[in-house]
Amino acid sequence: MSYSSLPKVELHLHLEGAAPPAFIASLAREKSIDIDRIFDGQGGYVRGDFDWFLKAYDAACTVLQRPEDFRRLMLAVLEQSAEQGVVYTEFFLSPDFCGGGDLSAWRDYLDAMVAASDEAERSFGIASRGIVTCLRHLGPEAAKPVARCAAETAGRFVTGFGLAGAEMMHRPGDFAWAYDAAREAGLGLTAHAGEWGGPDMVRETVDHLGCTRIGHGINAVSDHALCDHLIEKGVTLEVCPVSNLVLGAVKDWKSHPIEELRARGLRVTVSTDDPPWFGTSMTHEYEMLERYFGWEEERLRQSNRIAAEAAFCDEDTRAQIL
Ligand code: ADE
Ligand code: ZN
Repeated sequence: MSYSSLPKVELHLHLEGAAPPAFIASLAREKSIDIDRIFDGQGGYVRGDFDWFLKAYDAACTVLQRPEDFRRLMLAVLEQSAEQGVVYTEFFLSPDFCGGGDLSAWRDYLDAMVAASDEAERSFGIASRGIVTCLRHLGPEAAKPVARCAAETAGRFVTGFGLAGAEMMHRPGDFAWAYDAAREAGLGLTAHAGEWGGPDMVRETVDHLGCTRIGHGINAVSDHALCDHLIEKGVTLEVCPVSNLVLGAVKDWKSHPIEELRARGLRVTVSTDDPPWFGTSMTHEYEMLERYFGWEEERLRQSNRIAAEAAFCDEDTRAQIL
């Protein structure tokens, strides 16, 4: 069946990672930056393993230089998401790509993105919030100014704090200072874990950083005691199935643990991560879940209700999401 009209909630979407290749290519031309190597010549990004992806992602971000670039990008992405039936989205936003962690520069970028979010809500009926995100491979010291940017701009739009990038560099606990600052500012907490790392990485992310959501978290499946712990704590998993397939975090659809995690009683949600990099969209994710795991409308609605409950927004907004 076609799921395009089903109201959807997406909790895990990287703003830069959602940039259409044509958008990045046109900025590259405009600014005479040579990043041809990241394009496949057929309108897409070159695919590769996770190391390649992080490098190519970084290269794409070099063309995103001005607040206006981010305003246009966010508006274009939200228009596309609304066409997919998404009614509420949370973006991972990186001050490292928006002024290098400088607070006053970050405010300028943020103003531009809030303008896009407001315009998209008026024009396309899609609500959005921002999760200020540090990059794990830049290390815990670099996360501190990012956490300050998050804490200083926490409010109606910036409602969460996150950690992305190379999971196998550093331990979750190394980022405790940044997460403490974000928690004190009242932000919701999430972090990528258990995409590449094992169950220990997921446990430490919950127990040492206090995250109530986990980006991916799929490798928790092999540790049943951890699964029970996540259920007891009410932790929500932001699962991005096609991303896991394309980057090779799982070897094929049948070995993807999303259904086992759901059936065990974990709070499982569905997102796209970086859709053009993986040739996916929210409706494509749903079609694959129907095809490989028999997820039908009620199961998909249930994952959206869970996503709405776990959203980092105020209660009034939450009540209106679905
Ligand atoms: N940044 C963008 N996509 C990511 C992913 N799948 N894992 C870690 N960091 C990311
Ligand atoms: Zn991600």
